[in-house]
Amino acid sequence: MTAKLPVLQLGKHRPRYPLIQGGMGVAISGPRLAGHVAKSGGVGTIASVGLACNFSFYNGRNYFEANVRAVKESILQAREIAGPEGVIALNCMVALTDYDRHIKAACEGGVDVIVSGAGLPLRLPEYAKDFPDVALVPIVSSVKAASLISRRWEKTYGRIPDGFVMETPKYAGGHLGVTKMDQVDDEAFSLDSVVPELVAFVERELGPDIPVIAAGGIWTREDIDHAFSLGARGVQMGTRFACTYEGDASDRFKQAYIDATEDDVVIIQSPAGLPGRALKSPFIAQYLEGNVESKPCIANCLTHCRYRSEKKTFCIAQALIDAYRGNWEEGLFFCGSNVTRVTELQHVADIIRELFPE
Ligand SMILES: Cc1cc2nc3c(=O)[nH]c(=O)nc-3n(C[C@H](O)[C@H](O)[C@H](O)COP(=O)(O)O)c2cc1C
Repeated sequence: MTAKLPVLQLGKHRPRYPLIQGGMGVAISGPRLAGHVAKSGGVGTIASVGLACNFSFYNGRNYFEANVRAVKESILQAREIAGPEGVIALNCMVALTDYDRHIKAACEGGVDVIVSGAGLPLRLPEYAKDFPDVALVPIVSSVKAASLISRRWEKTYGRIPDGFVMETPKYAGGHLGVTKMDQVDDEAFSLDSVVPELVAFVERELGPDIPVIAAGGIWTREDIDHAFSLGARGVQMGTRFACTYEGDASDRFKQAYIDATEDDVVIIQSPAGLPGRALKSPFIAQYLEGNVESKPCIANCLTHCRYRSEKKTFCIAQALIDAYRGNWEEGLFFCGSNVTRVTELQHVADIIRELFPE
């Protein structure tokens, strides 16, 4: 165990522990999970994508309006659980059609931090401009991406990122932040390669106060200490928090995690055109064989969607909602490679106590 934990300062916000629970859509990290993580001293992150599906005011025809309302309501609910000291974040994917609306809704709803990836968040400061206290944290997989984002932000908006989440495609869940399949296992994108490079870049170009947060494959305190030894000042963890009593997903979703073996974990080319890691549910097994039948597109939710444009692949929003609700036959169950280490439900507070006994 390291002698002293690094302090994770994200703009004006500082969680008790240098830990961010990663945003997991659709609705896997909703207000309940985020609220409990924040209450226990980490940054609790609500994933904004498709949040409406969790609320009774979504009627199947008002997806975009309902999402905006759901973002605000979810932040309120998470804050109620977390208490005034808790740090609440919103994870928003750049690839969403209504990205700008989610960012504005989160800022108006009183979020502390916005974490944003699945594309380069080049215009994020524009959408958050009236809320300088909201910390803005891009997710990147390379120094090149971090450099592009910070140069553009500085030049156009006179602001720099408040931190970077560096996510490795080798172990992470969901969309993997690289565009090609052969990059997923490429050592050039490993935490050991990129975190020290990114830390050096940030210190040289942006100053000593901007933290790098490591993500992908982190499970134990040893993993966390290793990330700190590379220069990270925080870690982001997803998979381990999805399967908690407080997790927002259905019991069937969590059971799929408990049952998963190594053979069940696959990489797919998602409808968004990015590789993603997921469980081989019957639906995904059919997709990999090339004969999947999709449910209809629910809302034009992605700016680039191969299902909408070419009728290839499938409606990802629908498949993720099916997974969240526990439909094993038809769902897309995103997961990190550590899903094989999930053996039981745990309480958020117990996980955080185990990771940070101090
Ligand atoms: C079920 C699931 C859904 C995810 N959805 C998103 C998402 O909507 N946006 C995003 O930026 N990352 C998403 N991720 C990535 C996580 O936020 C996190 O960075 C990653 O899973 C970290 O790796 P780990 O799972 O090995 O801890 C998702 C991950 C999982 C497991």
